[in-house]
Amino acid sequence: MKKIIVGNWKMNPASKKEAEKLFKEVKKNIVGSKANIIVCAPFVYLETLKKIGMGRIGLGSQNVSHLESGAVTGGVSASMLASLGVKYCIVGHSECRALSDTDQQINLKIKNLLKNKITPILCVGERERDEAHTYLQFVANQIKYAFLDIPKSAIKNIIIAYEPVWAIGASATRTATSEEALEMNIFIKKVVSDITDEKIVKEIPILYGGSADESDAGNFMTLGGAFGLLLGRASLDAKKFGKILKIASDIK
Ligand code: PGA
Repeated sequence: MKKIIVGNWKMNPASKKEAEKLFKEVKKNIVGSKANIIVCAPFVYLETLKKIGMGRIGLGSQNVSHLESGAVTGGVSASMLASLGVKYCIVGHSECRALSDTDQQINLKIKNLLKNKITPILCVGERERDEAHTYLQFVANQIKYAFLDIPKSAIKNIIIAYEPVWAIGASATRTATSEEALEMNIFIKKVVSDITDEKIVKEIPILYGGSADESDAGNFMTLGGAFGLLLGRASLDAKKFGKILKIASDIK
């Protein structure tokens, strides 16, 4: 099965012109890779990317309103995203959780996305690790709340990204090891299997995200058990992104 590589551009680049340039470079650098590629761009650049042409890249958004319509100043609904041709949407990224997202809102976002045939990429991950391993229960709860009242048949259309908060972004305390990623990968499978069943858990891709780059991407997808990667900074450098895609498509 093809690995999934997601680029999360976050609030980058600074202008539409730069976004066009970056996306064109990304397109050049994906040639030869067999991985499934998704680019999650800021709302304001989604149409820009589409106009350039998505080719075999999946168009992704980084967030969505938890409400369907109405008086939500600044809100962007799942149906609006669907009408632009958006196929994927990151939900519950730790940066959004830190700003405002509650578990209940994340659950509503997932439901609205699924209703609009957009694949949610649910981010889960602990803020810190402790020796008593309470972080495992923390992540289990994030998944349980996110999946509340969602039928099993729909849960299989969700992608999960394990992103330990302490390993994300320029302020990361350190990078996760492939053993740490694997431990959580196995644990998440168990949690999802308890909610659904063994057959469905096999269909749900579990990605890793947090300071992954071309030096450790291969390890996360082999030793770490990840079905792919959610890349922040590494997705803003088209050459790096291309190298990681190549690594992903070379993994058997
Ligand atoms: P990073 O971001 O790769 O820059 O650490 C990952 C993410 O936040 O999705």
